[in-house]
Amino acid sequence: MLGLPLDDKVSSKRVPTIVGSIVILLTILFGTNLFNYLRIELVPISNTDSLCPLHEPVVPESFITDNSTVLTILHDEDYKLNSIKKLAGAIQVDTQIFDNQPDVPDSPETWVKFIKFHEYLEKTFPTIYENLELTKVNTYGLVYFWKGSNESLKPLMLTAHQDVVPVQKDTLDKWTYPPFEGHYDGKFIYGRGASDCKNVLISILETVELLLNQNYQPQRSLLIAFGFDEEASGVVSASAIGRYLEKTYGKDSIYAIIDEGPGLAADDLTGTIIATPGTGEKGYVDIEVQLTTPGGHSSIPPDHTSIGILSELSYVIEKDPYSPILTSKNPTLSYMQCLALHDSKSKISTFTKKSILRAGYDKFANSQVIKLIQKNRFSKYLVQTSQAIDIISGGEKANALPEHVRLLVNHRVAIESTVGAVKDHFVDRVIEVAKRHNLSVKAFGELVLDTKDNSGVFEVNVFSRPLETAPTTPLNDNVWKHLAGVTRHVFEDLIYPEIDYPIVTSPSIMTGNTDTRHYWNLTRNIFRYSPFYVQSIVGSTNVHSVDEKLAFEGHLQLTAFFYQYIQAVDTPTADN
Ligand SMILES: *[C@@H]1O[C@H](CO)[C@@H](O)[C@H](O)[C@H]1NC(C)=O
Ligand SMILES: *[C@@H]1O[C@H](CO)[C@@H](O)[C@H](O)[C@H]1NC(C)=O
Ligand SMILES: *[C@@H]1O[C@H](CO)[C@@H](O)[C@H](O)[C@H]1NC(C)=O
Ligand SMILES: *[C@@H]1O[C@H](CO)[C@@H](O)[C@H](O)[C@H]1NC(C)=O
Ligand SMILES: [Zn+2]
Repeated sequence: MLGLPLDDKVSSKRVPTIVGSIVILLTILFGTNLFNYLRIELVPISNTDSLCPLHEPVVPESFITDNSTVLTILHDEDYKLNSIKKLAGAIQVDTQIFDNQPDVPDSPETWVKFIKFHEYLEKTFPTIYENLELTKVNTYGLVYFWKGSNESLKPLMLTAHQDVVPVQKDTLDKWTYPPFEGHYDGKFIYGRGASDCKNVLISILETVELLLNQNYQPQRSLLIAFGFDEEASGVVSASAIGRYLEKTYGKDSIYAIIDEGPGLAADDLTGTIIATPGTGEKGYVDIEVQLTTPGGHSSIPPDHTSIGILSELSYVIEKDPYSPILTSKNPTLSYMQCLALHDSKSKISTFTKKSILRAGYDKFANSQVIKLIQKNRFSKYLVQTSQAIDIISGGEKANALPEHVRLLVNHRVAIESTVGAVKDHFVDRVIEVAKRHNLSVKAFGELVLDTKDNSGVFEVNVFSRPLETAPTTPLNDNVWKHLAGVTRHVFEDLIYPEIDYPIVTSPSIMTGNTDTRHYWNLTRNIFRYSPFYVQSIVGSTNVHSVDEKLAFEGHLQLTAFFYQYIQAVDTPTADN
């Protein structure tokens, strides 16, 4: 085009127009994201068959010959009243647990309240105590063993915890019913532990008692494990139970573990009910930084006191949040893919759907999906390491310079990241600020910046026990198919027969950590899963807060699930 004769009037006018148009077009294509949008709309998506396959319902054989017990669990009024009594009684025994408790041998009196709880369980479930072998681990940890007839089958393990979070005294008058009464108002049962998670504990025992009363004889052994300090990270109980089980049964010796977790809820995007066992957990690390500077009289201060400098560090930290990341390692991507592929009511736009299905390999599509997830504060951190400056302390006196100041930052580590990466990121920020003030930095026991100056020193340390992200549970193998299949059977055949779409089971991230952190060596098939329906995952059960409650219907659904699941996997064909 540059070689065109300049005296050609027609061309000389047109050329700039054509060049201009091309430039404008290219600018629109590449300068904006039009090109990316077009790619998502027009380029075919690679095969999605393996992303979120729908599994067939799994019905235990016993159901075909006699469905009366599971129907009794779900619909019988006497059964229900009895069950309410059992859960209410468990709530009435106060098992509150506080942080940083001493171990049992060091302080037996801290833990004696669990004796009462054990007495209650033994009185309420006599058949279990007559028939199952009970081992008490670290005095109050309960491990029940029901021996199966086929010892070559790996045992199934069901878990819950005996302890509950404390009720704050100044909130007592805000409770509609007292927190340790277990009041039933015709729909909800109220009280501390009603939904976290004496409901799960009682449901497991009720299920096993029903099976025992029918002279059920399992082929696959069943283990039941109840720790007693889950709300303080399980360091005293579940850790001991994990060690005991690993020693007794070996590494990778368990068929699957089902612990407390999410169940079924209607998804906001699709408006359909979806089951979401937690198949991954974010990591956890608290980092503490202390700054020590020379003291002195505040009438002749330096330009920046240690409080000023730590404030600057706080500012630097918050200005630099972690970048979001979403790869196929993250159950959240699988969850989005399940929504996109099983949007039975066609609520998701085609563009969003296509973006989700490309998000595993297309950078732009990935960024669109991240945007969608991060719109909501509750899902924002499913794809990002969180950082929260939770403690700052220092300063003693109005006329004295603060010599020693402390800051603590809590992190929940993204699935794709590691505790090490968070530590490195954190230290970089500290060094950046230290350099501006000629301060030295000691990080995790090592002097990483030495200014040879005596103006002060940062000391960075890990506070409390860090936790790497959990290994993710394998998907779509035979163990998964049974979990998803029994979910479909129970909720489609028995609980919501009017629903005209299949109930999909999708992986999800558990934002907190459960006792399963101590069970990683026992199996890869860990499901944080309490299958009953709640209207919204967020907020409807007031977990850890005033008026913790449970719609009792959910308790019956959970028991129906356990009852069918134990039987459905009680066969070699349920193995991988
Ligand atoms: C339960 O079994 C009875 C008798 O076989 C049958 O009529 C009924 O349809 C079954 N109910 C369900 C929900 O499968
Ligand atoms: C016991 O389980 C194994 C699979 O682990 C299977 O091969 C065997 O047939 C089972 N035995 C009986 C009696 O079912
Ligand atoms: C930092 O401290 C060293 C050692 O006392 C000194 O030589 C240097 O000038 C200081 N740098 C600044 C920027 O204050
Ligand atoms: C799991 O096994 C590893 C390797 O043997 C061991 O170091 C670790 O302490 C075990 N984890 C738990 C929670 O017992
Ligand atoms: Zn819990």
